[in-house]
Amino acid sequence: MTTDLYRPRRSVLYVPASNDKALAKMAQLACDTVIIDLEDAVAPAEKVAAREKLAGIFSNRPDTNHSGRRCEMVVRINALSSEWGGADLLAAAKAEPDGILLAKVDTPRDVLEAGDVLDDNSAPDSVKLWAMIETPKAVLNVGAIAELGRDPASRLVCFVAGTNDLTKDTGVMATSDRRYLLPWLMQMVLAARAGDLDIVDGVFNDFRALDAFSRECTEAAAMGFDGKTLIHPAQIEAANRAFAPSAEAVAKARAVKQAFALPENAGKNVIALEGRMVERLHLAQAEKLLAKATAVGA
Ligand code: COA
Ligand code: MG
Repeated sequence: MTTDLYRPRRSVLYVPASNDKALAKMAQLACDTVIIDLEDAVAPAEKVAAREKLAGIFSNRPDTNHSGRRCEMVVRINALSSEWGGADLLAAAKAEPDGILLAKVDTPRDVLEAGDVLDDNSAPDSVKLWAMIETPKAVLNVGAIAELGRDPASRLVCFVAGTNDLTKDTGVMATSDRRYLLPWLMQMVLAARAGDLDIVDGVFNDFRALDAFSRECTEAAAMGFDGKTLIHPAQIEAANRAFAPSAEAVAKARAVKQAFALPENAGKNVIALEGRMVERLHLAQAEKLLAKATAVGA
């Protein structure tokens, strides 16, 4: 969580900037965030045309989507070291999205340099930065990159685990239980929390296999991710469900809050509730969960 106000990022859908049919669908979807993609989803021959569409996409931005809430809109740009990255960043800054997602980040410097370009071009403070953690170097540097989240001037608010690139660049075997990726994913979650950043999990490529997708979402929620990046509208509902607090968790949180509100518990740090020890830290956790539940209508 990056602000006092909880912003859900349960379902974060990539929409290729080159795909007009997909772009036209955005207002009908119930995802929390869309990422207009200029990078991996767009072929080299289409990169420039895709970039030129940004202004139109953002000037016709829907106020709310099918969720009834304002959908966060982020632009993913090509790596700043690529032939397209620099012009992508300027075009994205002009469109004033909620965030710009940097691909192939290796070091904190990559994020700082993008932030400098935004500052130099008078991009409003509301334009935040997101970073893909998808290279071996980024995983090794993830703590230092996350630390930027402690300084609002860096604009960094969210990580995205780039599991396809990480699998490709490291040579680990892609298994359905992601066993070889798990240590790196957990390290990313830990770093994100240390830097007070949100973090969303990588995509699930087999977009017709919704049961397996649901299981991966449930696991990612248990690992501490805030949400999942998605490639297809059919994945939205399961992600929204998996990353929302369950009815059981909401009921437990309410009980903790009520118990600490009792006059006899005022000033106590530890109380007993239904045979369990509950500490004030659990109250903070419960309040956070209830804010999240309210925000997503759970
Ligand atoms: N965003 C919005 N709408 C999408 C969408 C997306 N990511 N993916 C598919 N749709 C739309 C299709 O346009 C289609 O619309 P229609 O009902 O008006 O015809 C509908 O959803 C059903 O799509 P479907 O036919 O099942 O899939 P497809 O074969 O058209 O597309 C993919 C499959 C994988 C090519 C497509 O989902 C896609 O490009 N996803 C994003 C990939 C991406 O961004 N990758 C980079 C990050 S990893
Ligand atoms: Mg990638």
